[in-house]
Amino acid sequence: MAIFLDSSDLDQIRQFMATGIVSGITTNPLIISKENPGVDLKTHILEIISMAKVPVSVELTTETETEMLAEAREYAKWQPKHVVIKVPMTELGLRVINVLERHDKTPVNVTCIMSFNQAYLAALAGATYVSIFSGRVRDMGYDPAPVIEQTRAVLERERLEAQIIVGSIRHLADVNEALRAGAHIVTVPPAILKKMCLNPRTTETIREFNDAWHKDRSKRK
Ligand code: E4P
Repeated sequence: MAIFLDSSDLDQIRQFMATGIVSGITTNPLIISKENPGVDLKTHILEIISMAKVPVSVELTTETETEMLAEAREYAKWQPKHVVIKVPMTELGLRVINVLERHDKTPVNVTCIMSFNQAYLAALAGATYVSIFSGRVRDMGYDPAPVIEQTRAVLERERLEAQIIVGSIRHLADVNEALRAGAHIVTVPPAILKKMCLNPRTTETIREFNDAWHKDRSKRK
């Protein structure tokens, strides 16, 4: 199991890479527009890669097969070792995934997956990663856990190599649930990852220990 960071924010990436817990980064057009409005995509992605040296998912924004392949090949050229192409899950997307993975040997993260059948097709098309959107599945009134469980079971049974990334994480419990259900990777926004480090009882205990220590030392001066 692994944790990816769902962010394009350089400060957050720097801070979390230093903890040694993050082994990949996912971005999408919405995240980049919010966190780094107007940024030059190539410069920014290369800056993330040179700092983090982990797989970085960059999402396609074009919508025809020819344009998507051209866009993907341009991104892959930037840094073939670490760029992962995020392709949205559609019928057209499957054709793009097949070419990128099997012909170009470029790793693909298939994104915006809401159901087991979509995840299965993406894996059959050769995807390196299939991204199931937990929060958005729940927004529609469904439980994401069975989608993750069924996908993991079929990947194992049919010896498909795709790794499940669970994204669209809104709460701490979503991370735990995703891992329990069989996610290989959970991609977590920085705010949630910060909360995962904390427990009020831990904070209180550290305070109690350090206050006792400093009180004792000050008595001896
Ligand atoms: C995952 O790769 C996506 O970037 C992300 O988790 C989308 O989540 P959202 O539902 O918060 O937009």
